Amino acid sequence: MSTKRLITIERHIQEQQKSHPSATGTFTSMLQDMALAAKIISREINRAGLTDLLGAVDTINSSGERQQKLDMFADEMIYQMNDHTGRVCAMASEEHDDLIDVPVEYDTGNYVLLYDPLDGSSNIDVNVSVGTIFSIHRKFSRGERGTLEDVLQRGKRLVAAGYVVYGSSTMMVYTTGNGVYGFTLDMALGEFLLTHDNLRFPEIAQYYSINQGNEKYWTPGIRRYVKWLQGIEGEGHKPLAHRYIGSLVADFHRNLLKGGIFMYPGDLADKGKPYGKIRLMYEAQALAFIAEQAGGYASDGIGDILDLRPHSLHQRVPIFVGSRDLVERAEDYIRKYDLDWQESYKPYRTQDAILK
Ligand code: AHG
Ligand code: MN
Ligand code: MN
Repeated sequence: MSTKRLITIERHIQEQQKSHPSATGTFTSMLQDMALAAKIISREINRAGLTDLLGAVDTINSSGERQQKLDMFADEMIYQMNDHTGRVCAMASEEHDDLIDVPVEYDTGNYVLLYDPLDGSSNIDVNVSVGTIFSIHRKFSRGERGTLEDVLQRGKRLVAAGYVVYGSSTMMVYTTGNGVYGFTLDMALGEFLLTHDNLRFPEIAQYYSINQGNEKYWTPGIRRYVKWLQGIEGEGHKPLAHRYIGSLVADFHRNLLKGGIFMYPGDLADKGKPYGKIRLMYEAQALAFIAEQAGGYASDGIGDILDLRPHSLHQRVPIFVGSRDLVERAEDYIRKYDLDWQESYKPYRTQDAILK
């Protein structure tokens, strides 16, 4: 094994800090803490089949879904890693109804951490890839403690985002707005090593990902667009292959490496989920930032997800994310064929923030 270019995630994060002369190191430490949390969650996931951690518990999270035990373990791990460091002023997690305050006995800092501790949790019981998603905003409000205003910032203002995919190997991918970098966990060393330098979506896309079982709820534009992806509508190109894992992180990661688009559209105005399923604050903003940094794009079907002004912690957003040309073409179809849906979605899209 060559040691010449062996770069651990810690070293890489420190090197990145050097390109920001005013950086204090706080932010660097936060990313390193996330890498440590990822290692611990990864270990637990790998053992899950052998321990009583496997399986659901009888509580419902704020999005009305059954929480899995590993959801709670991952949530607690990320919280504990960050609550006492003096680096964050508040946190928000998919598994908590409200903003998570830093306990009064600890100092607060300049950053807000948002996270989906375990993404794709319905796949845990069947040994299929799951993930963690996180993003970091700079504190905005003037008081000592963080407020909802600090959390409900536009994606354009993110200072970092990343995800971990617990797949055939565990990988952590992150950006601080200076490219996207991927690290693979060497289990024996217990280190994330740089394996994917400056990730970019490939020119030629191979895959499209959407829950095809929801076709009866699709709008006319989505129907036509998927027919275009399949090479049936339009100029009749070679079809893209359909791949859908049902773990956003894993689907996104494959499409980043191979080129493609992930979609969770808003359903027909009077059916199913008019705003889709994916959460803006814990999933969509982070992946939109990573996609943009890798030369891709994320849209809600109308415009850039990073431009949306969030209105509530658990708001859903329709999402089209991946290779830029594919996402822009989805927007074209929606613009042309989905006027009814646009009308029904726009009030939700432009709603004022609820800050209490
Ligand atoms: P989570 O496990 O964090 O609730 O997220 C599940 C999400 C996302 O990971 C995935 O892309 C999507 O749900 C799959 O939903 P469907 O089963 O409706 O396709
Ligand atoms: Mn999720
Ligand atoms: Mn989750």
